[in-house]
Amino acid sequence: MKLEGVLPFARTLLRTFCQPGDLVIDATCGNGNDTLFLSKLVGENGHVFAFDIQEQAITNSKQRLAEHKADQNVTFFHASHDQLIEQLPDHLSNNVAAAIFNLGYLPGSDKSITTTGSSTIRAIEQLLHLLKNEGVIVLVIYHGHDEGKREKELVLDFVKQLDQKHAHVLQYEFINQKNDPPFVVAIEKRG
Ligand SMILES: C[S@@+](CC[C@H](N)C(=O)[O-])C[C@H]1O[C@@H](n2cnc3c(N)ncnc32)[C@H](O)[C@@H]1O
Repeated sequence: MKLEGVLPFARTLLRTFCQPGDLVIDATCGNGNDTLFLSKLVGENGHVFAFDIQEQAITNSKQRLAEHKADQNVTFFHASHDQLIEQLPDHLSNNVAAAIFNLGYLPGSDKSITTTGSSTIRAIEQLLHLLKNEGVIVLVIYHGHDEGKREKELVLDFVKQLDQKHAHVLQYEFINQKNDPPFVVAIEKRG
């Protein structure tokens, strides 16, 4: 038995919370790796709603999904994840099984275009309305860069004060690794 790494653990959470037919959100689609994973998890009767603020990310993700013939159940939004409620159809309210955020910047691209604490928090607030009871938000938090450090503090402060009657919050982190390794925060909606 080995302790599961942070990125595999994020996927274990998604596998645990998602069934075929579910509605799910990739809040930072980037190069489409998580979008592809979610598309396969929820299958042809489910649907993935994928967001990114960069046109390049949307293009890369569409290409990845098409290469794997997994694009039939995905809708892309070239928009910030703090516009989830504005952009998504009404029937998603209280119906979303899971959402994933891989925070930070698009690998191999402009590092100044990165997620920020304020918009990530606004997106989490909206997702808490969209999630069904016992649905999950999974955040992979990268804090090796300056904005990532600010974002980490803001997001942790925000999730720690969520009422435990309405949300169970977990942090999964290796605490003796060097170079600011990423860690997971998971928020399960309750009641
Ligand atoms: C670490 S990458 C995501 C990697 C991706 N999950 C994958 O599998 O390839 C972070 C992405 O978040 C995007 N991003 C930054 N701010 C955003 C926002 N407010 N809303 C949506 N996406 C955002 C960036 O453009 C970047 O593509």
